Amino acid sequence: MSQKTSNEMWGGRFASGPAAIMEEINASIGFDKRLYAEDIDGSKAHAEMLAAQGIISADDAAAIADGLEQVRAEIAEGRFEFSRALEDIHMNVESRLAELIGDPAKRLHTARSRNDQVALDFRLHVKRAFAALADGLTGFMQALLERAEEHADTIMPGFTHLQSAQPVTFGHHCLAYVEMAARDRSRCRDALVRLDESPLGAAALAGTGFPIDRHRTAAALGFREPSRNSLDAVSDRDFALEYLSVAAIAATHLSRLAEELVIWSTPQFRFVRLSDAFSTGSSIMPQKRNPDAAELMRAKPGRINGALISLLTVMKGLPLTYSKDMQEDKEQVFDAIDSMTLSLAAATGMVRDVTVNVEAMRAAAGNGFSTATDLADWLVRTLNLPFREAHHVTGRVVALAESAGVGLEDLPLDALQSVEPRITPAVYGVLSVEASVRSRTSFGGTAPDNVRAQIGYWRARLEA
Ligand code: ARG
Repeated sequence: MSQKTSNEMWGGRFASGPAAIMEEINASIGFDKRLYAEDIDGSKAHAEMLAAQGIISADDAAAIADGLEQVRAEIAEGRFEFSRALEDIHMNVESRLAELIGDPAKRLHTARSRNDQVALDFRLHVKRAFAALADGLTGFMQALLERAEEHADTIMPGFTHLQSAQPVTFGHHCLAYVEMAARDRSRCRDALVRLDESPLGAAALAGTGFPIDRHRTAAALGFREPSRNSLDAVSDRDFALEYLSVAAIAATHLSRLAEELVIWSTPQFRFVRLSDAFSTGSSIMPQKRNPDAAELMRAKPGRINGALISLLTVMKGLPLTYSKDMQEDKEQVFDAIDSMTLSLAAATGMVRDVTVNVEAMRAAAGNGFSTATDLADWLVRTLNLPFREAHHVTGRVVALAESAGVGLEDLPLDALQSVEPRITPAVYGVLSVEASVRSRTSFGGTAPDNVRAQIGYWRARLEA
């Protein structure tokens, strides 16, 4: 019995196999077609500059610009046939351009490489994503401010350890998320300042001998300036890492809101009712209203954090300058951009639509002896007790109320005086949740007037 050689055994596959597998692993068109608009913008700016510098003729540049607009329309209208054999968006666009306009297309790639081209396209895309994220955050902040304004006086329990701690206002709670969103927005703006350099003209890695004008292309593409080092320009992906880290933090903030909405919308809490638009039913339990959108918003950091770790890992240890590893930079970022955009839109929609159950919040705010600190503070202010002693006295009062099964404000005066004889009826003035929140007037505190002042601050900031 004759044995086939390994070559013969694999022959059927290998005759065409390796090339096919190579094409499959090498191609990025499946995902980088998303960069087509940036690729065309970059090529138009490059061709215009080449003509202005006398490197190509004005006629060729005009033909290139016309042809690129035809390609743009074909792709935008879904009439473009992407080819995997052409690897990526850059080659697909250039090859179609040649079909459309012939010879002038062959001059487009003068003084350029796919290395600076892809660095440019991706950077432009992330720049747009950062700007969109900042805008989305502004919309989210506006929705929160509306809620805060309506509910500056609405009292709810404030929690630590998810245990009732002290009464707060719902408006104050909304403003906490405004603060988070504002920091996220300022991280977008900081990152945009660093990102604002054009890599176009770094060419493969070393720059070019052609008399190009990188300031001209940078300005045409809306960048502040060209990048100063060609090696760094083609190998830098910090801007993408920054988007992912900013998004990871922002998505984490949204996940905390999501978790609160999930908890608050349970029949056990009933603090809020999510609109039908953001709830789903159950296929078996007719009574259910499930907060699916909030749950997915809670889950999104799984993907976004994953993308951040993924790209950090791809970039780690890469020698300068470009390596094909860097083609693995895009899918994760695109996915993170989509997740972030969707999550923020859902958050904004939910905040706009949510119905707040003022009575349920108010009732819960009084549970759990939430004004115990107010009693301790009263003992300090009125009887001049040291705080530690006041804390101890209050603890005994709470124990008394707990065993009597009543709230602090329902304990009769003689019960209070059995713990501390100097307590007077004036104490009842601080034991209600309304009095408690009204008293929290320290800067940044929850008093309704403070909340209104903070809303004014943010409204002015958002309009500026
Ligand atoms: N598709 C490639 C990428 O995404 C474009 C750059 C290719 N450059 C190269 N030297 N092979 O990174």
